[in-house]
Amino acid sequence: LLLQADTRSFVVDRDHDRFLLDGVPFRYVSGSLHYFRVPRVLWADRLYKMRLSGLNAIQFYVPWNYHEPEPGVYNFNGSRDLIAFLNEAAKANMFVILRPGPYICAEWDMGGLPAWLLRKPKIHLRTSDPDFLAAVDAWFQVLLPKIHPWLYHNGGNIISIQVENEYGSYKACDVIYLRHLAGLFRALLGDQILLFTTDGPEGLKCGSLKGLYTTVDFGPADNMTKIFALLRKYEPHGPLVNSEYYTGWLDYWGQNHSTRGIPAVTRGLEKMLKLGASVNMYMFHGGTNFGYWNGADEKGRFLPITTSYDYDAPISEAGDPTPKFFALRNSISKFQEIPLGPLPPPSPKMMLGPLTLNLDGDLLAFLDFLCPHGPIRSILPMTFEAVKQDHGFMLYRTYLTQTIFEPTLFWVPNNGVHDRAYVMVDGVFQGVLERNMKHKLFLTGKLGAKLDMLLENMGRLSFGSNSSDFKGLLEPPILGQTILTQWLMFPLQIDKLVKWWFPLQLLQRAKSQSPSGPTFYSTTFPILGSVGDTFLYLPGWTKGQVWINGFNLGRYWTKRGPQQTLYVPRPLLFPRGALNKITLLELEKVPPQPQIHFLDKPILNSTLGGTYLSSLSADTEGAYEPMKLSGH
Ligand SMILES: *[C@@H]1O[C@H](CO)[C@@H](O)[C@H](O)[C@H]1NC(C)=O
Ligand SMILES: *[C@@H]1O[C@H](CO)[C@@H](O)[C@H](O)[C@H]1NC(C)=O
Ligand SMILES: *[C@@H]1O[C@H](CO)[C@@H](O)[C@H](O)[C@H]1NC(C)=O
Ligand SMILES: *[C@@H]1O[C@H](CO)[C@@H](O)[C@H](O)[C@H]1NC(C)=O
Ligand SMILES: *[C@@H]1O[C@H](CO)[C@@H](O)[C@H](O)[C@H]1NC(C)=O
Repeated sequence: LLLQADTRSFVVDRDHDRFLLDGVPFRYVSGSLHYFRVPRVLWADRLYKMRLSGLNAIQFYVPWNYHEPEPGVYNFNGSRDLIAFLNEAAKANMFVILRPGPYICAEWDMGGLPAWLLRKPKIHLRTSDPDFLAAVDAWFQVLLPKIHPWLYHNGGNIISIQVENEYGSYKACDVIYLRHLAGLFRALLGDQILLFTTDGPEGLKCGSLKGLYTTVDFGPADNMTKIFALLRKYEPHGPLVNSEYYTGWLDYWGQNHSTRGIPAVTRGLEKMLKLGASVNMYMFHGGTNFGYWNGADEKGRFLPITTSYDYDAPISEAGDPTPKFFALRNSISKFQEIPLGPLPPPSPKMMLGPLTLNLDGDLLAFLDFLCPHGPIRSILPMTFEAVKQDHGFMLYRTYLTQTIFEPTLFWVPNNGVHDRAYVMVDGVFQGVLERNMKHKLFLTGKLGAKLDMLLENMGRLSFGSNSSDFKGLLEPPILGQTILTQWLMFPLQIDKLVKWWFPLQLLQRAKSQSPSGPTFYSTTFPILGSVGDTFLYLPGWTKGQVWINGFNLGRYWTKRGPQQTLYVPRPLLFPRGALNKITLLELEKVPPQPQIHFLDKPILNSTLGGTYLSSLSADTEGAYEPMKLSGH
């Protein structure tokens, strides 16, 4: 790897509007692939297929919050082993265009920023706020030295590095911050590496900076001529670069599945390649938002992103080449050589079931195990961030101080439920409050009755806002005329409990009373012979979280769609008759037959005719506007 390090160079040739690699004209045709959305054992498979499509580079982000779970605690192990991923890319003969942030968007929780930054509630993210800069500096002093040996001129495969991400779309527009980052990257990576920025056309003004090469992003439906002409105002000479050419698009819960037609995608690519531009296709393989990692957008209302990040990309979520893959390979072959070699066949798929799940008990019955250190007490409710609960769920509990005979209005002012609250009185499920969507319930209860609110963090905003997205109860709830106080807050460690193998029923203190509301279900099942990729289908279930063999597969929301199945990568499953365990936390309502299926095909496009929003309950108050697909 370290041979002839001093002859290696990757530079902008401003005289001829191109890149030079080792002095030879070069352009990249690249694709995005996020190591954090693909199980590690499948990285090589995805990279190999991308190489065989004719790409000569991959582009990827580094999510800070994935690697620094607590301030000063770093994790580069297993699926977080960034260096192993760079190595796999090198083995696949791919150059790397690295995007370390610190902000990445990527439809990833909080755009990749760690939630613990919000433990200082006044912090102004992505600005020269000293608290933010101190955290960024500390992180990059860990990350960038790891990257340094992998720079192209040092013998590695990283040819260029992006600073920040679409910063021009961020309202703060703080040039001091951008300059600080540029200085930090230079100090830690040296002068030779090509540093660049990426912005949508409207963001070029605030997002570009002298000393950083300006690139742009746009999709097949946009006017390439017009946008490249605009780019020339910022970068009069040098190669044209589209850093995010959209092959597809993301999905939001409750909205239609996004697709992008093949002819427009290939036509747009060929137009750019004809001009000699370098292009990165976003995404080439989307992958999955496992666990709690999905982000959210704010477009008139809060819009969380689905668990699937299939993206209608050329390589499907399960790693299979789609017709878009072959069409793009054909387009690329008109401009550069496609490597020889057989494309692997689609991965083996598996069908199983239906399986009937067993009731383990309602969530409240396991509180001692879910929150072993006991609750935090406070007069007014505190946010997730204030009690250091970064992801998942927290239970808020108080007791009624008077008997409420008549159904009485229960609500949280200022849209203060972030993001969903499952409400129980004396263990009996009463309904859901939801940010921007549902603001009222009517409750009754006796003096001393236990009022529980299970708050769900649906993923922090990853784009479209410059305000911090705190989670939990942001305001004290009101019942009738009374502001409720004296709260107990239980940060829940659900993932730890689910990893225990023995049946949860055995842990129950009291038998479950409510057939609805947050409830655990599970079962074990053998797979005879070898395992294949499969898609977990949960017909009739409402909404919740699901684990396979202790691995948090992500959220399901059958009732809202469009995603109806969850991708289960085969490495998660045990073969040859060993027992596999599936656990569901269903938050609302189970079907009469609590069954699940494993299918051999995904269903990602089943929204109830796009009419879900208008069919929501009558007291929906949030004003939401028609969605515009802008920004990324
Ligand atoms: C990472 O792996 C090393 C060596 O296997 C281990 O000592 C360390 O505890 C692991 N760190 C984390 C955060 O898992
Ligand atoms: C958002 O950005 C604007 C413009 O810089 C600033 O005035 C405002 O305080 C910011 N809001 C937050 C919550 O950071
Ligand atoms: C694209 O933009 C160019 C330059 O502004 C303009 O001349 C052309 O008509 C536009 N094309 C389309 C299809 O709108
Ligand atoms: C959903 O996708 C499948 C597979 O691509 C397709 O056959 C079906 O027509 C789609 N359904 C809708 C409602 O778009
Ligand atoms: C969603 O899809 C349905 C069925 O194809 C269609 O009727 C509806 O207009 C779509 N909604 C949006 C917002 O595109």
